Amino acid sequence: MSNQRRAGDTNFIIENNARHVWHPMIDPKVSAENPPVIVSGGDGVHITDVSGKAYLDCTASLWNVNVGHNRPEIKNAIIDQLDKLAYYNTFGNASNPPSIALSALLMEMLEPEDMARVMFSSGGSDAVEGALKLSRQYWKLAGKPEKTKFFSLKNAYHGVHFGGLSVSGGIPWRRAFEPMMPGSFHIDSPHLYRNAWTEDPEELGEICADMLAREIEHQGADTVAAFIAEPVQGAGGMIVPPANFWPRVREVCDRFDVLLIADEVVTGFGRTGTMFGSRHWGVKPDIMCLAKGINSGYVPLGATVVNKRIVEAWDKDDPMAPIMHGYTYSGHPLACAAALANLDIVIEEDLPANAGAVGGYFLERLGELTEYPSVGDVRGVGLMLAVEFVKDRGTKEPFPAFDPYLTAIQKSCMDANVWVRIQANKMIFSPPLVFGNSHVDTAVDAVHAALSRVDA
Ligand SMILES: Cc1ncc(COP(=O)(O)O)c(C=O)c1O
Repeated sequence: MSNQRRAGDTNFIIENNARHVWHPMIDPKVSAENPPVIVSGGDGVHITDVSGKAYLDCTASLWNVNVGHNRPEIKNAIIDQLDKLAYYNTFGNASNPPSIALSALLMEMLEPEDMARVMFSSGGSDAVEGALKLSRQYWKLAGKPEKTKFFSLKNAYHGVHFGGLSVSGGIPWRRAFEPMMPGSFHIDSPHLYRNAWTEDPEELGEICADMLAREIEHQGADTVAAFIAEPVQGAGGMIVPPANFWPRVREVCDRFDVLLIADEVVTGFGRTGTMFGSRHWGVKPDIMCLAKGINSGYVPLGATVVNKRIVEAWDKDDPMAPIMHGYTYSGHPLACAAALANLDIVIEEDLPANAGAVGGYFLERLGELTEYPSVGDVRGVGLMLAVEFVKDRGTKEPFPAFDPYLTAIQKSCMDANVWVRIQANKMIFSPPLVFGNSHVDTAVDAVHAALSRVDA
């Protein structure tokens, strides 16, 4: 059998997954006992596994297939580009047309943020790494070489490279790989459901922004390069900050001359109901990290965009300041061609507006789940939503990750053809932005049924 034919042989696929593949973010023993669902097809908001079972995709894979599966516009753009040139790099004095066309489109879309240049990469972790490195080089060029430290939030997720992991806050992601990069410091997230101070959102926003200010002052602003955060924290718990938090953070960064990096890998291109998550808070970052929704995952792509202030540091004739950073696949023509077609869809179908409207209905319906004793909190914005499960509502004691209760709820939803994701003690909903209210009803009805069954 040819190797290509083997990929279509279901028994071969199932056996060899168990034999050869280590999956991200799971102990291989757990994965051996609970083999993954092998997804082999997708169309719109639905996916199909190798046994032919169909599911409503309530996670858009990993919050990235924003325009839905199997869009002919994107497939045709990739094929057209393949006919011309499958790949050529963008290092030094080489380039390719789709990456240049995409840079122009991104700069148009990011004009309100005064963004001026883009560096492409292969995904979100890469985009974060680029942001961290460019901010350090910026301060060296700006004559303040001691500004090297990074501040971030405790529940942050900024990818898996050493820089991004160092500014990520979740201990489970970091522990096995410690020690992390020196010079990385974390302050508390403005997490309304779980914080030590207040139930008042505004007060919480003030407290957390003040904490950032005090820590920068304590360490010396002349040592701090940047603060990095997600406009809405995703993998760390779907934490929507109070409305005053980001504007206060921008003030703090301005006061101490610290760069503000928005990690928009999940929130970019419409997911929160605005084209970019930081617009939700009316804030202009200095650097933005983009990936996922940039081309809905059809071909891997990431991008780091920087504003005019950063670019000016490179505008001087002297010294020479090569950017010694980049990936073989930075600006991959197929990925950029897919992005151009994808962003046409996002703009023409006004998917940010749809995410806002359908997300509002989704949140309202998820609110019904608080009738179950294990549901501690329901939160989110746009099509970034979570249900948090607790053992005890009074103490908010969370279910441990991989608790059989959580696994049973997930299994029950999957049995009902609704694909959901459990992360730690939360059920995450991040569907394609083309979701409609009827899809929301199917999803929430399945969770209702799962909770009734498992609780009984
Ligand atoms: C906010 C954020 N930043 C960075 C990343 C890393 O992206 P990737 O998995 O494409 O490397 C993720 C992934 O989910 C993310 O959520």
